Amino acid sequence: MKLKDQIAIVTGGAMGNGLGIVKVFLKYGATVIILDYSDELNTTLKKLNNYKNQLFAYKVDIRNEESIQKCINHIIQNHNHIDVLVNNAGICNLELFANMSSELRDKHFDINIKGSWNVTKAVIPYMEKNKKGSIINLSSVTGPMVADTGEVAYATTKAALIGFTKSLAIEEVENNIRVNAILPGYILTPMVEKMAQETNEQNPQEVIDNIAKAIPMRRLGTPEEIGELAAFLACDESSYITGQTIVIDGGSTLPETNSMGI
Ligand SMILES: NC(=O)c1ccc[n+]([C@@H]2O[C@H](COP(=O)([O-])OP(=O)(O)OC[C@H]3O[C@@H](n4cnc5c(N)ncnc54)[C@H](O)[C@@H]3O)[C@@H](O)[C@H]2O)c1
Repeated sequence: MKLKDQIAIVTGGAMGNGLGIVKVFLKYGATVIILDYSDELNTTLKKLNNYKNQLFAYKVDIRNEESIQKCINHIIQNHNHIDVLVNNAGICNLELFANMSSELRDKHFDINIKGSWNVTKAVIPYMEKNKKGSIINLSSVTGPMVADTGEVAYATTKAALIGFTKSLAIEEVENNIRVNAILPGYILTPMVEKMAQETNEQNPQEVIDNIAKAIPMRRLGTPEEIGELAAFLACDESSYITGQTIVIDGGSTLPETNSMGI
């Protein structure tokens, strides 16, 4: 029970990677608080009813600074402290740079960058007071390392989160707050299913199958695999790790070419 007695906030925990993180954190004994704006949240809570004493949720948009501050104040009133924050909520809407509106660009920047900023800003004073914390940001291999077409706005935000991670890590080291980033490759989530649908409306499964073929492990990752890495970064087993970017991609960023080799 490596997360026993830990109070953890997971943004975007209603589905996808966030839900995988929530499930693994619950398994390891954490009290988990989901912040998510999706209507799916109710269904998720019902499905996890076995954990009802350990699981709490707020339906909130991470873009709304005032609402986020109210949630965090409320969480502190009820739980007294916050040990772990996972900035997982994010969006990816495919669009070529030439066609991308300023509105769609800003939507990515507002959720993926400013949303993570807002929640961190509200949580960190309490971690500082407690002289303890682990913050985990969901970046991506997309942006810092690789990209597919239509991902300029998304990739920009995911690269920005690396700068956020490193600069916050150095500022907060004296407060015993560690800040790290997870860089997943393709993980099978509603986000990727939607992107596959946008890429090939007739046959989205073919898109998923072709992604899998291009990955050395020949499969997409699972949200629970992201959860296990997040749990490691959240707990004391990773106590000497801060400011780092950890890739979890089934080897997808390894191949140098697809033609050389015996
Ligand atoms: N799936 C992948 O292949 C992949 C790869 C690399 C990185 N990531 C990152 O993992 C994170 C989760 O991705 P996913 O694939 O699970 O996505 P998803 O779309 O399946 O789930 C995202 C969750 O975030 C919530 N959310 C989005 N915007 C929000 C907002 N403004 N306020 C509150 N909640 C909000 C959604 O309601 C949803 O529950 C993202 O940051 C994404 O960039 C995903």
